Amino acid sequence: MLSNLSSLVSLCKRRGVIFPSSEIYGGLSACWDYGPLGVQLKRNVQEYWWQEMTCREDVVGLDSSILMHPKIWEASGHLSEFSDPLVDCRNCKYRFRMENESTKVQCPKCGSSNLTEPRPFHLMFQTQAGPMQEDTSVIYLRPETAQGIYVNFLNVCSSMRKKIPFGVAQVGKAFRNEITVGNFIFRAREFEQMEMQFFVHPSTADSHFEYWKEKRQNSLLTMGIPKDKLRVHSHSKYQLAHYAHKAVDLEFLFPMGWKELEGIHHRGDFDLTQHQKFSRKKISYTDIERKESYVPYVIETSIGLDRLILALLCSAYHEEKVKEDTRTFLRLLPKFSPVQVAVLPLQKQAALKDLALKITNDLRKNWRVEYDDSGSIGKRYRRQDEIGTPFCVTIDFDSLSDQCMTCRHRDTMNQDRIALSSLAHYLADKSSIF
Ligand code: GAP
Repeated sequence: MLSNLSSLVSLCKRRGVIFPSSEIYGGLSACWDYGPLGVQLKRNVQEYWWQEMTCREDVVGLDSSILMHPKIWEASGHLSEFSDPLVDCRNCKYRFRMENESTKVQCPKCGSSNLTEPRPFHLMFQTQAGPMQEDTSVIYLRPETAQGIYVNFLNVCSSMRKKIPFGVAQVGKAFRNEITVGNFIFRAREFEQMEMQFFVHPSTADSHFEYWKEKRQNSLLTMGIPKDKLRVHSHSKYQLAHYAHKAVDLEFLFPMGWKELEGIHHRGDFDLTQHQKFSRKKISYTDIERKESYVPYVIETSIGLDRLILALLCSAYHEEKVKEDTRTFLRLLPKFSPVQVAVLPLQKQAALKDLALKITNDLRKNWRVEYDDSGSIGKRYRRQDEIGTPFCVTIDFDSLSDQCMTCRHRDTMNQDRIALSSLAHYLADKSSIF
């Protein structure tokens, strides 16, 4: 339904979901600020992922630091491998990332084929630790959260007494000095990842890979990604990253085409073996029952939180004609909507306001509620539609005598008259059928 990102970008700005970073200074390319409603949406989505990952016996959580020992990036291969092919257009001077090295390339801006040879451009942000600016104090902002998990493998194993197979989940910021940015929050230089590394016996790695591939697809579908907008792309042996035995991308049909949303990777023992080599610490797992010691294989699931937010917003965005007008609404699942219930007194009279505020405070114990008494009721409904509020509860003069109110539904605009005493039950019932 969404043919390009521009109407979504302007809705997000207008309604306090996502703002360009540093806007009053002209902005900072590929960095974004989540506004009051955006941060709530992001927390809801992150929390759902976190619960799904860690509310099981075989996955625990972790929050490792962003700055880590620089040797980690040597061991992981990022220092030598983590670059993109950079090309300059000799005609219009545009600089871009070559997407596919085997095809004939043209400048995406002016169409010219008069381009420089691709040269590697390193994607890690470098900084200095401590007051001395010396070569030895160079450190990096992490380009992925995964390495923080590998270097804590022994700590987690021994402190949590976990038996293989088990996983470690982490959510956190990652930084990449991307050459080509754009498409809103799809590819940013600062973004958040939600990654889970599952440590397994080498002989079972293939079946765990298949399990997580299925599991992650199902999870995305239950979050509101439509089935016809999700597909699996398996990496050919030429596409595989240096660490991967097998990899699939779960791709989403964004307005700019099919693009990677999440990666599921069979990383073998590459990471733990590399850290063993570079740290000179023995990193292995001992299975006492089987009297076997080995370096576990890793199955990774890795999704960008911001990219998932974009996919959910694109899936939720709807426009429909209402008489002469166009109504825009976000069909977010109620569990993700930043505001779940809007309480709207029809007019500003004190008695209506008092009752509406009392209902707001009661509902706040269990719901994310917004009270709004400014502007016409039609405009207030439209605003709630645009931010994806599934229910608007309107208090009118009859409410004062009959203790009933009107509940309007975002997707259908249907209205029900509900008794105050049954409102909480009604809302719980209606949100469970989304
Ligand atoms: N640890 C594996 C790893 O980082 P990746 O394919 O480079 O793999 C995983 O990244 C996910 O992180 C991607 O599928 C995407 O959702 C997200 N991601 C990567 N780069 C991003 C960027 N510049 N902006 C937003 N999200 C990004």
